Amino acid sequence: MKKNKKKIIIANMKMNGSLNFNIDYLNAIKINFNNYKNLNIGLCVPYPYLFQAKEFLKGSNIGWGSQNVAKFENGPHTGEVSAEMLKDFDSQYVIVGHSERNTAYCESDENIANKFERIKKYKMSPVLCVGETLIEREAGIMERVVSSQIDTIIQIYGAEIFEDSIVAYEPIWAIGSDMAATPIQANKMCNFIKEHICKSYNSDFENFNIIYGGSVNSKNAVQLFTSESLDGVLIGRASVNIDEFSQICSTADSS
Ligand code: 13P
Repeated sequence: MKKNKKKIIIANMKMNGSLNFNIDYLNAIKINFNNYKNLNIGLCVPYPYLFQAKEFLKGSNIGWGSQNVAKFENGPHTGEVSAEMLKDFDSQYVIVGHSERNTAYCESDENIANKFERIKKYKMSPVLCVGETLIEREAGIMERVVSSQIDTIIQIYGAEIFEDSIVAYEPIWAIGSDMAATPIQANKMCNFIKEHICKSYNSDFENFNIIYGGSVNSKNAVQLFTSESLDGVLIGRASVNIDEFSQICSTADSS
């Protein structure tokens, strides 16, 4: 990661937490994480806890947001939550295209592109998840798979939509598996993604970041933070364990 550039640390709480658990958790984050000068930390919580996250974290350096958004503006879409509603809670980060959702709800690349645009419209940062399966990696087609996930967004909205956004390289085989990508694998793919998007945009981005996710923990973080092409990490399980989360942030802040 580049020196002198703030590192991005996004926590994906997934479907964890409760009002009670969050009181200690958010308090610990607010007290212990607020002093990291070299980090931009964002907490992506389940929808019902957005208000609680906002109440605890407002006035701190820590941002919050959600793990999904509707592709619609408003209307008869039972169970959906719009980008405008997320903005009502001062959300800053919205995860989009996570493979756990893609698999469970058959999200198309076009749906993901529409959600990405909604998030941008309300001036929040999309955290777009892309990544290949193990079979695709073993077949050597991982770059083709990842670029096609990105190209749908570029084709519909143009590469400039990636300004002020975050792309998370999350190989599906590394999620929840204790088999994180090696720093070399992560670095190579993050570099590929950055070049692929920048090539489509004939100008330099002012604020565009690539992060890595998939079994990040306090041990492998040390190596991952030495990778030149990574601007940060997206943390799943380890973000719900305050000691692990704290160690990862401390490593990031000093590397
Ligand atoms: P784990 O860190 O639990 O593997 O999850 C990664 C992830 O899916 C983050 O979005």
